[in-house]
Amino acid sequence: MAEQKIAARGLEDIVAGDSAICFIDGKKGRLIYRGYDIGELCFRTSYEEIVYLLWFGLLPNKGQLTEWNAKLANERALPAALIQALQQMPKDASTMAVLRTAVSLSSLYDPDGRDYTEEANRRKGIRIIAQMPTIIAAFQRIRNGKSPLPPRKDLSHTANFLYMMFDKVPDADSVQALEAYLILLADHEFNASTFAARTTAATLADIHSAVVSAIGALKGDLHGSANRRAMEMFLEIGSMDRAESYVKEKFAQKKKLMGFGHRVYKTEDARAPHLKQMAIKLSQLKGNEKKWYEISEKVKEVAFREKGLYVNVDFYSATVLYYLGIPVDLFTTLFAMARSGGWTAHVLEQYANNRLIRPMSNYTGPMDLPFVPIDQRK
Ligand code: SDX
Repeated sequence: MAEQKIAARGLEDIVAGDSAICFIDGKKGRLIYRGYDIGELCFRTSYEEIVYLLWFGLLPNKGQLTEWNAKLANERALPAALIQALQQMPKDASTMAVLRTAVSLSSLYDPDGRDYTEEANRRKGIRIIAQMPTIIAAFQRIRNGKSPLPPRKDLSHTANFLYMMFDKVPDADSVQALEAYLILLADHEFNASTFAARTTAATLADIHSAVVSAIGALKGDLHGSANRRAMEMFLEIGSMDRAESYVKEKFAQKKKLMGFGHRVYKTEDARAPHLKQMAIKLSQLKGNEKKWYEISEKVKEVAFREKGLYVNVDFYSATVLYYLGIPVDLFTTLFAMARSGGWTAHVLEQYANNRLIRPMSNYTGPMDLPFVPIDQRK
């Protein structure tokens, strides 16, 4: 037997590197982006401002923001070959698989594809952030038998996405809610998908490869797909009077409730109160059914009473996105669209002070076995 080492399962509590981008206080339930508390930012800035902050470590002044907005807006359009590829993809394909494939494909048409200088990496990062909303909205329209709408440069990042999705300039409430959502989900320290991106970047692979690694990691139910699973749960429950028995049944079956629990937060997720505020506001707007928010609150009450579980970011994300009219199977692609700002910021930070990321394992297999040639094996 090899000398045994103690493995930290899931790398729990392991500090895997330095970063100046984001800090989570799991005990107090605080989230900090480059020194600013998320509560100071989420209703008072734009998503573009937050990406600038995550990338460069400071909030832009008016001139810097105008230039930055234009840089992003000018890169929203997709290469024709990518649109054709989206048109060939199965209409019922996993939307996260479509996004993962499309971002990978976009690297083949990126004019800076084989340039690995810092300036080229930044240009590619801007294209990834700018094109993800266009990819998502284009596939949504294509799978519904419609042509993709070309992005508009006169709308903000958030408003343009809603325009490309629904073919109308969005109302202010919808823009504010989605903007807050994108800001709240823009970064979250060394979560699984961001760490996947950094591990990929640390080999000096290109930024598209790093983001594709991240999209793959985010796709899992324990990470980014929890938002859609939480909404599917509320839809399955269907009415307030079924919530209690549903939750107790899940716990009796030893099933995990999606939208609850977190590796780092030991109290409520710092983002939950802000998303809750948006869910309440949207539930009261025209045409929305308050019952989905009310069902979610009942589920939250029972989960805390029965198992002391706190909600995480995906819990209220579910009703916010549902009330915005986003199809449930697109929810995780919006998480990816938001997190593209953080992923690219972390990749650039990794490149700037890089060392290959290569942990060890605790080997639990046999040792020094005698080799038996194939014709003597039983
Ligand atoms: C995100 O890391 C990040 O920052 C991620 C994220 C980000 O912004 O990037 O915050 C986004 O991914 C949020 C998490 C979304 N995932 C889910 O909602 C899926 C459900 N949650 C669980 O699978 C779980 O809470 C994790 C995966 C989020 C965290 O898992 P851990 O830290 O490995 O905790 P664990 O599974 O070991 O659970 C510890 C205990 C267990 O009880 P015991 O078996 O010891 O008695 O808590 C229980 C678990 O059963 N528990 C749950 C639960 N989460 C934890 N029980 C029921 N339902 C849950 N959701």
